[in-house]
Amino acid sequence: MKTLSQALDLPKIIGHRGAAALAPENTLVGIRRAWEEGASWVEFDVKLTADDVPILLHDERLSRTTDGKGKVAAKTLAEIQPLDAGGWFGPEFAGERVPTLEAALALCIELGLGINLELKPCKGREIETARLALNVLLDLWPDRLPGPLISSFDQVALGAAKSLVPSLARGCLVTRVPVKWRERLEKFGCRTLNVSNRWIRKRHIEAAKRAGVPVLVYTVNDPARAIFLFEQGVRSIFSDRVDVMAKALTAYCQPSPGRTLTAAAGSITSV
Ligand code: G3P
Ligand code: MG
Repeated sequence: MKTLSQALDLPKIIGHRGAAALAPENTLVGIRRAWEEGASWVEFDVKLTADDVPILLHDERLSRTTDGKGKVAAKTLAEIQPLDAGGWFGPEFAGERVPTLEAALALCIELGLGINLELKPCKGREIETARLALNVLLDLWPDRLPGPLISSFDQVALGAAKSLVPSLARGCLVTRVPVKWRERLEKFGCRTLNVSNRWIRKRHIEAAKRAGVPVLVYTVNDPARAIFLFEQGVRSIFSDRVDVMAKALTAYCQPSPGRTLTAAAGSITSV
């Protein structure tokens, strides 16, 4: 089986669902917008159509982010592809489609973007989602780009990802940090701890730092909060506002008299 780079070259800013405040989430236009605003990585959510095609979509249902209705798991790709996945966000995005994972990866490869592929399986499709998404990833992803990070809230999907392609970097994605987070990371062979901005605490960051585990925090749209988190030792933040974050970090990283940069804030693209 093909193996991808295992180096995990995490950036400071990861565009969340592309750049979810600037363009419709989980679309090609959103991924491109994240790149245009200076992101070097994007995150997106992957689930399966009824006929087993991995696509980018966050919800179990179509209605919030497309003009369709019903459960994604019950629709074939042919039923999903005509839907408008952009008009809900703004008229200028009308006609944008729900992308297949294949199309999203092709765009990321063209732009040289690193990725966090979040497995977001529909209920009952956990193992298949991991298997089919990783198949597409292994087929397409080139060695010259940073090794992707695979994450999931779903422990069945994460376990499947581990069994199927052990060499891929995995992130343990949680809302709150579980008491036994080290055991969870160990169990799923995870290399990062991906935690909600609402629930991350200094003690978690410090414990992870001691254990040599990078902490990634979602979703951070306030630049002051991002800089605070970086100062505390957070490795990366997921942001809907890639534009604001990139500018704030660039400004923060400009040396000015009387201010010493910390190592954590030294670069907007990598640490
Ligand atoms: O992977 C980070 C973040 O995307 C997790 O939450 O609901 O936005 O997929 P959600
Ligand atoms: Mg996500």
